[in-house]
Amino acid sequence: MWNPQVVENIKFNNNSLSILNQASLPARHEYLEISTLDAAIDAIKTLKVRGAPAIGIFSAYALFVHFLNIHRTGNYSFYNLRAAADQLIASRPTAVNLKWAVDRMMSSIGEKDDPEKIFTIFSSTASNIHSEDKLACEQIGNNGVGLIKENFKILTHCNAGSLATGGIGTALAPLYKAARGGINFQVYATETRPLGQGARLTYWELKQANIPVSLITDNMVGSLMAGGLVDLVIVGADRICLNGDFANKIGTYSIAVLAAFHKIPFYTAAPISTFDRVCSNGNEMIIENRSSDEIYSVWGYDTYPHQTYNPAFDVTPGNFLSGIITDQNLITQPLINGINLTLRSIQK
Ligand code: MRU
Repeated sequence: MWNPQVVENIKFNNNSLSILNQASLPARHEYLEISTLDAAIDAIKTLKVRGAPAIGIFSAYALFVHFLNIHRTGNYSFYNLRAAADQLIASRPTAVNLKWAVDRMMSSIGEKDDPEKIFTIFSSTASNIHSEDKLACEQIGNNGVGLIKENFKILTHCNAGSLATGGIGTALAPLYKAARGGINFQVYATETRPLGQGARLTYWELKQANIPVSLITDNMVGSLMAGGLVDLVIVGADRICLNGDFANKIGTYSIAVLAAFHKIPFYTAAPISTFDRVCSNGNEMIIENRSSDEIYSVWGYDTYPHQTYNPAFDVTPGNFLSGIITDQNLITQPLINGINLTLRSIQK
């Protein structure tokens, strides 16, 4: 039976910000208090907090915490706040939710320089970003649950669940809804080299929720698909362009190509905050490169080839997608029309 408890990854109470340290899961379940801008940037860069929507929510609170600090110490200036916003945005460049959330915080205060007003506006804007994402996850679940049929075998990559968002996840939201609806299914979670978000986080999260999950290594996907062991693929997204090309955890593109070859439905799931309204196609996306030690250190063993190439994400062309499960609707091909109509309907 599905256990409806989702993991609370970001907490903000009495102006104090803390996160469940995802870098130490599943070995240790520890919350870290984040009380400075530097600690917030470090937490983002070292993936103590991770997942596109989660780093957006976290950055909004982190900017608020920074404002409280500079106000308390008499160092408040709009310039200081803007510089902090820019540092947060630069800390992980691919996931657009981070920039979206920080920009929303900054535009919410406009030209105001009265600290009392900024306090009130920042407090409500950050909390709205958090609660809206929680609701968006529920709606993604509702819009995607129909794709999951009895006894389906579903493959997911990386972690796009409650750890990566403010609610029940993006790619995992339809799974949680299906489980709640009494549908039986089986999940295959890829381990997601190099940092093991699937092995350490998705496997752990689904186990907590009593959802049947088997861990596979990334190089098993083709074999599973050829053997008829995958009925559906759902992954998350870090940035979706206007034509449907999207960035997600490295390895997503390979899974998409394999799914197309084996004619297996392949979906991404994301809230509207993951759409980049000024990105016309995947060539325009910045892909974050990360340090080599993530590659040569495998599960605690050093393999020593210190010259590496470590892009954190890849770009999957939109034409590999069967559709995009959003909080507004299920967008199907041709994606360019569906994305355009969906984004226009929200602007109204
Ligand atoms: O490097 P990460 O762990 O932040 O990468 C996360 C992913 O690629 C997720 O699939 C994506 O952010 C979607 S999360 C809802």
